[in-house]
Amino acid sequence: MSPPSQTPRTLLVTGGAGFIGSNFLRFVLEQRPTWRIVNFDALTYAGNLANLTDIEDDPRYAFIHADIRDREAVAQALADHSVDGVVHFAAESHVDRSIMDSGPFLSTNVIGTQVMLDAARQANIARFVHIGTDEVYGELPLERTDLKFTEETPIQPNSPYSASKAAADMLALAYHHTFGMNVVVTRCSNNFGPYQYPEKVIPLFVTNLIDGKKVPLYGDGKNVRDWLHVIDHCEAILAVLERGLPGEVYNIGGNNERSNNELTRTILKIMALGEEMIQPVTDRLGHDRRYAIDAAKIKRGLNWQPTRSAWPTALEQTIAWYRDHEHWWRPLKEKPKPVKVSA
Ligand SMILES: NC(=O)c1ccc[n+]([C@@H]2O[C@H](COP(=O)([O-])OP(=O)(O)OC[C@H]3O[C@@H](n4cnc5c(N)ncnc54)[C@H](O)[C@@H]3O)[C@@H](O)[C@H]2O)c1
Repeated sequence: MSPPSQTPRTLLVTGGAGFIGSNFLRFVLEQRPTWRIVNFDALTYAGNLANLTDIEDDPRYAFIHADIRDREAVAQALADHSVDGVVHFAAESHVDRSIMDSGPFLSTNVIGTQVMLDAARQANIARFVHIGTDEVYGELPLERTDLKFTEETPIQPNSPYSASKAAADMLALAYHHTFGMNVVVTRCSNNFGPYQYPEKVIPLFVTNLIDGKKVPLYGDGKNVRDWLHVIDHCEAILAVLERGLPGEVYNIGGNNERSNNELTRTILKIMALGEEMIQPVTDRLGHDRRYAIDAAKIKRGLNWQPTRSAWPTALEQTIAWYRDHEHWWRPLKEKPKPVKVSA
């Protein structure tokens, strides 16, 4: 059998103008030079074509400005480009926004996923990778450091965001069970790296500190997250796309658990700043205490493991990227795009 890099493929990637999607597009074009990619993105406040300026003229790349809830646009895109694989990233992704208004989360994350699955089924798409999150498992107690989420951990989402993502996961798996669709689901921990919208904690803190502003630290700061470099995540998704078993779920994690206190103090240390830059703020409603991923299945089954996520090096490199790319993030902080609240 020829190696995967020799297999010509046309992927439709939803949400390719967002943080992880844009990194994935760039990564796949580098790693699989014979593939073509169609980026299907509605350009919400989180979608940004400035994430893709280096590949926008690549003949292997096409952009479609459309909404995943638009059935005709999705069907047309799949047919026009002879797509044979879908990687579905597009989602409303920020927990705090889902607490303020869950409407767009239900609409895009659940109905949008249903539209994508229906369209892919009708077009006989050979492979559908649904990008999920570890947040669907709910939370682990801080003191039980022996516990981690496995793929068998019951789904118990706690925020409107994670509830909408859990519904989308369940739909994707149901389409595999009911219709025999070749669907694979991934569930990843917190990502960090270049091109992350500066509402998420790492780019928010780093860009605040570059501007001499304090960083808002939720509650007691003891909440723990597992941090994975976005390119490690992209590599895992490519492995799942090429070699994951249909109907399976794959957890993806960095084995890199840190409390928000540790995260904040590490950023301050790298940026040579003191603790007076911390501004404690009222905790997020329903703030999950701890997420931790057991990624043994993808390591064993697909021979993937993170190689770019180790701190402090990976965090130093990420902070350096935001220092060097002020032209990228400053417009997002100073004049954010208005948020469209409904479909
Ligand atoms: N960021 C993380 O740490 C993380 C961790 C695990 C899983 N995930 C999942 O990965 C995926 C991507 O996350 P991200 O952080 O890159 O998100 P993001 O918010 O940076 O990007 C989302 C993208 O989806 C697009 N989009 C939103 N609604 C759309 C719609 N209705 N139609 C078409 N496009 C639409 C946006 O324009 C944007 O380009 C999401 O499904 C998220 O749940 C993210």
